[in-house]
Amino acid sequence: MPIIAPSLLSANYLNLDADCKMLNESVADYYHLDVMDGRFVPNISFGPMIIEFFRKATTKVCDVHLMIEEPEKYAEAFKKVGADILTVHYEACHHLHRNIQQIKSLGMKAGVALNPHTPVELLKDILSDIDMVCLMSVNPGFGGQSFIPNTLNKIRDLRSMIDEKNLPVKIEIDGGVTLDNAQSILDAGAHILVAGNTVFKSANPTHTISLLKQLKSR
Ligand code: DX5
Ligand code: ZN
Repeated sequence: MPIIAPSLLSANYLNLDADCKMLNESVADYYHLDVMDGRFVPNISFGPMIIEFFRKATTKVCDVHLMIEEPEKYAEAFKKVGADILTVHYEACHHLHRNIQQIKSLGMKAGVALNPHTPVELLKDILSDIDMVCLMSVNPGFGGQSFIPNTLNKIRDLRSMIDEKNLPVKIEIDGGVTLDNAQSILDAGAHILVAGNTVFKSANPTHTISLLKQLKSR
């Protein structure tokens, strides 16, 4: 079964309590929390202070996606407020290996996110040090964009790299995941589906989450 990670970026911030309850009672696995700094991406979302509230609202895994420059400055702050997985962008890190070691030494799982233009082959020498790769299937910064089809090729290539070395690395797909394209994303080799608009803008979010969860991953 795939891991389902609804993105709270698309939640209703006037009624977060209800959205958190809905997620907690659903078969969702992760809270996907998108941190944006207005520098790495052209949008600003929220930081550790808000994540502390989400942490108190759930026992589910807090999957924190940092779309920020200089993530090493904030890794400790995100650990403090209860992040379980901390993902940094390949494009934002001059010293990716050092950043990964920092995240792991703080006791979190480490993820690396790739923008749509960044080839998966660049991860060859870091793959055995990380827990997750987040492949961006839209340009990061906003919810509700359309899935970039070339992501399917990237998933296949990355999955071969992982399987070849028999690594436990999980592939997360972030952006434009819908009920229509989710199965093809899983067939290509993804393990984790992030879904913002597809979940929160649907008539019955709980049901949408269970439909995603019922799909088959390989
Ligand atoms: C985009 C974020 C995503 C976003 C996904 O920069 O990283 O997590 O919330 O939203 P949807 O699923 O609506 O494309
Ligand atoms: Zn994200």
